[in-house]
Amino acid sequence: MPYTDAVIHEVQRFANILPTGLPRATTTNVLFRNYYIPKTQWETPDTFNPGHFLDSAGKFMKKKAFMPFSAGRRVCAGASLAKMELFLFFTSLLQKFTFQPPPGISHLDLDITPNFSFLNRPMPHKICALPRT
Ligand code: HEM
Repeated sequence: MPYTDAVIHEVQRFANILPTGLPRATTTNVLFRNYYIPKTQWETPDTFNPGHFLDSAGKFMKKKAFMPFSAGRRVCAGASLAKMELFLFFTSLLQKFTFQPPPGISHLDLDITPNFSFLNRPMPHKICALPRT
């Protein structure tokens, strides 16, 4: 399920729930001591876009810049478990339910600004889970 996998990765990239360390970025592409530091690693950094994780044939592709579990010696010890759980929970819920805002509220009205307090948490939202027929 490459598209589902891409959507989950894009949710993690976009939500950025544990933005560890101080945010650092260059304002332009920089060449420093022969290291190329791009301004951004993503085609549309501020827009939700599962295409970030799909190649031109629609196959899932890994990206080195995707590091929600950190990297190196302090990489998340539960990463494999968390990835498996995210995929299983997400697919089983979406197979059984359609999620949508309550009647009278458009998805465009939902405020997806993160509620930051060390972690980036979502704002509270009311949501309807409609069983799929
Ligand atoms: C989506 C779910 C999860 C995310 C995004 C996540 C993310 C992270 C990140 C970014 C770190 C590194 C913090 C640092 O820079 O020191 C970390 C560390 C850690 N995580 Fe997770 N984590 C998740 C789920 C889990 C689960 C399910 C477990 C255990 C069952 C777990 C256990 C740990 C442990 C033990 C560490 C410390 C590793 C060390 O410093 O040696 N995590 N996690």
